[in-house]
Amino acid sequence: MQSFLQSLGTSVGVIGTQWGDEGKGKLVDAISGHFDYICRSTGGANAGHTIYTDGTKYVFHLLPSGLLHPKSIGVVGNGTVVSLPDLVQEIENLEHSGLDMKDRVKISLQAHLLFDYHKNIDAELERRKGKDKIGTTCRGIGPCYQDKIARRGIRVEDLLDLELLKEKLEQNCKFHAETLQIETDAEAEFEKLMSVREKVKPMLCDTRILLLKAYKAQEKILFEGAQAHHLDIDHGTYPFVTSSNVSAGGISTGLGFPPRAISGLVGIAKAYTTRVGAGPFPSELDNDLGEQIRQSGGEFGATTGRPRRCGWFDAVVVRNAVEFNGLDSINLTKLDVLTGLTEIKVATQYFLDDKEVFNIPTTRKANKELLRVEYETLPGWSEDLGGIQEFSQLPENAQKYVLRLEELINCPISVIGVGMDRQDLIYRA
Ligand code: GDP
Ligand code: IMO
Ligand code: MG
Repeated sequence: MQSFLQSLGTSVGVIGTQWGDEGKGKLVDAISGHFDYICRSTGGANAGHTIYTDGTKYVFHLLPSGLLHPKSIGVVGNGTVVSLPDLVQEIENLEHSGLDMKDRVKISLQAHLLFDYHKNIDAELERRKGKDKIGTTCRGIGPCYQDKIARRGIRVEDLLDLELLKEKLEQNCKFHAETLQIETDAEAEFEKLMSVREKVKPMLCDTRILLLKAYKAQEKILFEGAQAHHLDIDHGTYPFVTSSNVSAGGISTGLGFPPRAISGLVGIAKAYTTRVGAGPFPSELDNDLGEQIRQSGGEFGATTGRPRRCGWFDAVVVRNAVEFNGLDSINLTKLDVLTGLTEIKVATQYFLDDKEVFNIPTTRKANKELLRVEYETLPGWSEDLGGIQEFSQLPENAQKYVLRLEELINCPISVIGVGMDRQDLIYRA
């Protein structure tokens, strides 16, 4: 692990390269003991980051996953959308499992407050879309960012002026009730927030300054990405995306951290591909084999429990994420899930009208009818990967698979996941 960490430096970002759930939380947890601050810059509780350690399962939604390490401090940045009652619940869950959380969570005063009406609007707008729905997590993420961009959002700092907070809440509730014919209750929202105000007040601060000071003092900072490159509002498969910039650029805007101070970026890529919700998925296996991978990989959403769509590793998808984000290396996860397949396919190229294209097309017709995906077939392996700690101990065909992916995505695969536990990682020189 040491040489992997050394190669990345002291301010490191972890970014999903596919459509989320690649196993970001697991790597963040595994390396967090070497960092002072673990930060979330974008998104909200739509994320579900799972960690298994010594047989215990933890799922983090808005809190950074590094908090299992007693010394790390979790930062929730200005780019996030935060339901404070839900965040307090997440903190209390960790306290109940025996962790001391005192002074270990810092919340940006500029983050946007997410209310129950955002969740209701999210669910109702999805319902109204019918068959065209996006398949959101219904955590209120899109509606809260809509309020932010429309400049009627309510920020964490508004907790410091209760009169103003009440006024803004009433205005917003009225606005949404009138424009969407949705029931809202400003008083109930206010009371709910007040019930956690005293608990969260000591956590509120200018997280930009906090991190800048930490950086200048040469403390170590880890940026935990949520969602993934292809769910990015600008660069993902729009409109089947989330509502924030979850690619590497979001680290700077979502935390106020200078872009050139980010010393290293690791991408997380599953050894196959999954996606929850609607939207294009060129290498999808909508058949028995897809179901087999879903079962052996336990591919059910950590936030909503929905079955994840499964398919082959798509080198076009990951290569795009590598190029766009300037990734230094990749953690390939869940290689063990492919054990037992006689053949494994990898999507290598896309063609439209026999012309190679380098992105997922955005039109429905192109995706559903015209896109031709080129595959390469590699031999599988049957040996159990459990407990393997060295690349050279992997079955020969598993090694060949990793080396071929490395070539196709044009980025070193430095870490390989071979099981659920935080120990189940192979670090390559
Ligand atoms: P995240 O959102 O990117 O943090 O990923 P999720 O936690 O939503 O989903 C990844 C799932 O795969 C979790 O249940 C992890 O425990 C599990 N996982 C991560 N890496 C590995 C691995 O190498 N092998 C296996 N079998 N499971 C893994
Ligand atoms: P982590 O961090 C997988 C997907 C939803 C939906 C789309 C929009 O665990 O990888 P939203 O609720 O954000 O408006 O939903 O984005 N989505 C995720 N898919 N992993 C996630 O997070 C996701 N967060 C959002 O399924 O398709
Ligand atoms: Mg997840």
